[in-house]
Amino acid sequence: MDRSFLTNIWYFASASSSIKTGQLIHRQICKHPMVLGRTQSGKVFALQDNCPHRGIPLSEGKIIGEEVQCCYHGWSFSTNGLCTSIPSLADKTEIDLSKISVRTYPIKEYQGLIWVWLGDGDGQNVDPPTVPEVENHGPQVSHVLEFPVNIDHAVVGLIDPAHTPHVHESWFWRKPSGRTKKEKKFKPSQLGFEMLPHLASKNSKIYRLIGGAPEVRIWFALPGIRIEQIKAGKNFYCGMTACTPINENNTLTTHMMWWSMKWANFLKPVVRHFARTFLKQDQTAFMKQSKGLQWHPPLRLAGQPDQQAKWYFRIKNEWARTEDDGKEFKNPLKETTLEWRT
Ligand code: FES
Ligand SMILES: [Fe+2]
Repeated sequence: MDRSFLTNIWYFASASSSIKTGQLIHRQICKHPMVLGRTQSGKVFALQDNCPHRGIPLSEGKIIGEEVQCCYHGWSFSTNGLCTSIPSLADKTEIDLSKISVRTYPIKEYQGLIWVWLGDGDGQNVDPPTVPEVENHGPQVSHVLEFPVNIDHAVVGLIDPAHTPHVHESWFWRKPSGRTKKEKKFKPSQLGFEMLPHLASKNSKIYRLIGGAPEVRIWFALPGIRIEQIKAGKNFYCGMTACTPINENNTLTTHMMWWSMKWANFLKPVVRHFARTFLKQDQTAFMKQSKGLQWHPPLRLAGQPDQQAKWYFRIKNEWARTEDDGKEFKNPLKETTLEWRT
């Protein structure tokens, strides 16, 4: 696998709600073409998206019961990748079907999210990031967009505080008033770093909707997961943004939101609209950035506003190094306070 992609880690693949019973979808994750599907009994699976007969994508086929049937000559495959039927064979004993298979990818589905394991073994003894407060129900809103940059630029853009006043200036988000100095404490967390709880920014109108004095926690985890939790009394809001590499030039970004306030369910279309607007602002910035990046200019990370980006590269390199020497990952970061003006 390309060294710019980490292995032995869970990659976010899709919100569960995007793969309905009997549905197949295509995804490319770290250059692996995959078909994700849900059988009639509700089981989710991931297979390489090529029929081993002539290579046509299995995602072009259909689910029949607990199996996938290729659209070209009707070969069928079980969710563990084994060929179960070649309907055109006159003599069924002519070929040993157990010798024909397609690669499978380990899957985990919980909290309404589907994760794919890329690495050794099946990853079942490792947990993907958990969304706090949410027991096992999926996000109320989810939205998917493609960013025309690699995973590193997508992640750096996601955790970068300094672009906000330039890229995300909106009436509903912040007043276009002057910048203020921000001071945030960070500590290392399991696969990344966490901004310690702080009171919500008073100039953000959305935060006020949640009521009380909302406390905000934000954390980042490899390979590209940012979770933001806002809590006030019994109410909570949780947003998760998952960046999944498609290939070395493109990244799939899914933004999902959960909340506890029942009244907010009526606002789903409005929330979806704001989320889309917000992500599109990032997407537009990434489109402009990719125009500049075609010239491979030298780049620099500057000062504390870019410190989180430096941490990202540091933990990513550390993860890659532990993969090489087989040692356990040790987070090299230290508790630190960062300052910036936004
Ligand atoms: S290509 Fe799939 S059955 Fe022939
Ligand atoms: Fe952004």
